[in-house]
Amino acid sequence: MFQLSAEAQSAVKKELTRYESKDSAIIPSLYIAQKENKGWISTEVIRHLSELMDIPESKIAEVFKFYTMFNQKPVGKFHVQVCTNISCAVNGSRELAHHICKELDAKFGEVSKDGRFTVSKVECLGSCGTAPMMQVNDKYYESLTPESAMNILRGMK
Ligand code: FES
Repeated sequence: MFQLSAEAQSAVKKELTRYESKDSAIIPSLYIAQKENKGWISTEVIRHLSELMDIPESKIAEVFKFYTMFNQKPVGKFHVQVCTNISCAVNGSRELAHHICKELDAKFGEVSKDGRFTVSKVECLGSCGTAPMMQVNDKYYESLTPESAMNILRGMK
C-alpha cells in the first residue's frame, strides 16, 4: 500500500492550509506525490491523497488526468520531455525527439530497457526563444542539437 513519507505528508497538509479552497491544493500535492512515487501517479497514490486531504478520489483523479505533467504509468529514472510545439518544431525538435529515442533504444512513452530513460513529446514548456529544448526531470536544456542533447543525456548519473 502506497504511503507518503512523514515529510511529504506534512508538505501536503501545508498545501491544504495555503488556499481558500482545498481543491487548489490538489495540483501541488500531486507534484509532491509524483516525486515520491518515482515519477508517476498510481490509483494507490490517488487513494492515499484522497484520505490524507479528505477530498474524493474522483476529484483528484479528474485533475490528475487533465494535466499532462502527471504521468499515468511508470517512467525511467530520467524523464526526457522534448517540446514539439511550434517554435521547437520549426527548429527541428521532432527530428531531435526521434534521434534521442533511436540513440537510447527507447520507444516514445516507454521506459528504456536499462530503466534509465522515458522519452515523451510534450507541448510548449515556455522556453520558445531558445528552441529546441527539452526538460529532464526538473531541469531545462535549451538551444539543443542532436549532439548536445545526447551529450547531456549520456552524462546523466
Ligand atoms: S514551443 Fe517549445 S518551448 Fe515553446
